[in-house]
Amino acid sequence: MLVSPSLLSADFLHIGDAVRMLDAHADLIHLDLMDGVLVPNLSFGFSVSDAVCAAASIPVDAHLMTVHPWAWFPHLAKKGVRYISFHLEAAGGDALQHLRSLRALGVKAGLAIDPDVPVHKLFPYIGEADFFVVMSVYAGFGGQKFIPESLARIAALKAELRRRGDAALIEVDGGVSAANASSLREAGADILVAGSAVFGAPDPSAVIRALRAA
Ligand code: DX5
Ligand code: ZN
Repeated sequence: MLVSPSLLSADFLHIGDAVRMLDAHADLIHLDLMDGVLVPNLSFGFSVSDAVCAAASIPVDAHLMTVHPWAWFPHLAKKGVRYISFHLEAAGGDALQHLRSLRALGVKAGLAIDPDVPVHKLFPYIGEADFFVVMSVYAGFGGQKFIPESLARIAALKAELRRRGDAALIEVDGGVSAANASSLREAGADILVAGSAVFGAPDPSAVIRALRAA
């Protein structure tokens, strides 16, 4: 499995150290971009994401928790973000167009849903997305408790992807830890996002290894 640790849980006074550690040990770097409108929190914007992209050699995975997500695609792609996901809740009827815009910019196109959006709402976008983000907590904050019903949602999406012979990856985001990583893999997860489990541990690189090997 691929591991995409979330910088949201890093020590922001030492963010460069966190990026260097992830660059040496992780598969992707997950950047949570929040606007205080789609979700009730603010995180960081272009000044941080540009600096992370410039410093990282592994792919940066931006998770847009914003309204009007398309407005940020060109800048992020230009600065080298390789994976960009946005929320179906924010895109509504424009999700297909947004996925196509991302692919046209040469980035991996991802579509995310919160836990209260039925998973079958993703099915019309199979074939148009490179990855799907199944949120296993409500978007907005790190350190929340994993919602166990997410396992069945991942399995349902995986079954539909297999049935249609589609190679899109499933990223799981929220409350992921070494305790649930093997269940997530069995359900069909391909990319594990983990914030507090990685940065709250005494040895973050050991947690990344454990998640990858789950
Ligand atoms: C939540 C974010 C997550 C968050 C995960 O809105 O999308 O990426 O950082 O944090 P943990 O792993 O602590 O749940
Ligand atoms: Zn995220």
